[in-house]
Amino acid sequence: MHHAPLGFFDSGVGGLTVVRAVQQLLPAENILYLGDTARLPYGSKSPQTIRQFSHEDVRFLISQGVKAIVIACNTATAHALPELQKTYQIPILGVIEPGVEAVLRDPSAQRIGIIATRGTIASHAYQHALALRKTGLIIHAQATPLLVPFIEENWIDHPATRAVLQTYLEPLVAKGIDTLMLACTHYPLLIPILQQVLPPEVRLVDSATTCAEHLRSNLQALHLLNPSDASGKLQLYLTDLSEEFEQLTRQFLEKPAGRIQRAVLGAQ
Ligand code: DGL
Repeated sequence: MHHAPLGFFDSGVGGLTVVRAVQQLLPAENILYLGDTARLPYGSKSPQTIRQFSHEDVRFLISQGVKAIVIACNTATAHALPELQKTYQIPILGVIEPGVEAVLRDPSAQRIGIIATRGTIASHAYQHALALRKTGLIIHAQATPLLVPFIEENWIDHPATRAVLQTYLEPLVAKGIDTLMLACTHYPLLIPILQQVLPPEVRLVDSATTCAEHLRSNLQALHLLNPSDASGKLQLYLTDLSEEFEQLTRQFLEKPAGRIQRAVLGAQ
C-alpha cells in the first residue's frame, strides 16, 4: 500500500496548486490526479450536485487503487467532506482546515477577508471553521465567481482580470483586512497580480502548503508514507480533454504534464 498513489480531485486543473506543494514536501509519493473538466465549474452548482459529483470522483480514485484522497477543491470540501469521510473507509482530507491553520499561523491576523466561489462562501465553512478556532476575528467573505473563468481562459496577467479583482477587493480593503484567504485552489495563480492590486500590508494566504503538511502527518500516523528514494510519478486524468486544458495544466504545474488520460466517471 505504501507505493500506491495518493488520489487528488478537483473540478478542473486548479487543484494542481495543491499537487505542486505535495510534490515539494513528499517527492517520493506517486500521485493520481482527477480533474472533472467536463463538469467545471462546481462553484456555481447546488450542494446536492457537488456532493453527487464528489462521490463519483472519489469512486473513480478508489477504483484506481489510491491509498488516500485529497479533495483539492474548496467547493467540494465545503459541501461534501463530512459525507465522504462517513461513506468511505479510505482516509479523505480537504483543504479548508489547512487553510484556516495557514491563516492563524500569524497570531496578529485579526481582520480576515475570504475570497472563493459562490458555493464555498454560501456554505459558511470557512467562516465557521475560523470562528471556532479563534474568537474575536472579524471576517469579511466575498464571492468572486468571475475569477475561475478568467483563470481557465488564461487571462492571468490581463487588464480585465485586474479590473474585476479591484472591484471585488475594494470593499474588503475598505474594511481594513490584514489577511486575504485565497479559498479556491485556482487563485494562487493570481498572487502576482493580487500583490499589485492590494495594499502591501495585506498578507495573502492559500492552503496548498499547509494541506501538504496535514497530508504528511496523516500518512505518517497511518504508516502510509512511501519510503522509496526515487521520485514519485504523476498520472493525470481529466473528464474532458482539450488543448486549452493541457496548456493550463502545464501552467499550474510549472512544467510539462506528460500524457493526460481521459476519465469516464460513473462507471465504477
Ligand atoms: N477549484 C474550485 C475550488 O477550489 C473552484 C473551481 C470551480 O468552481 O469548480 O473551489
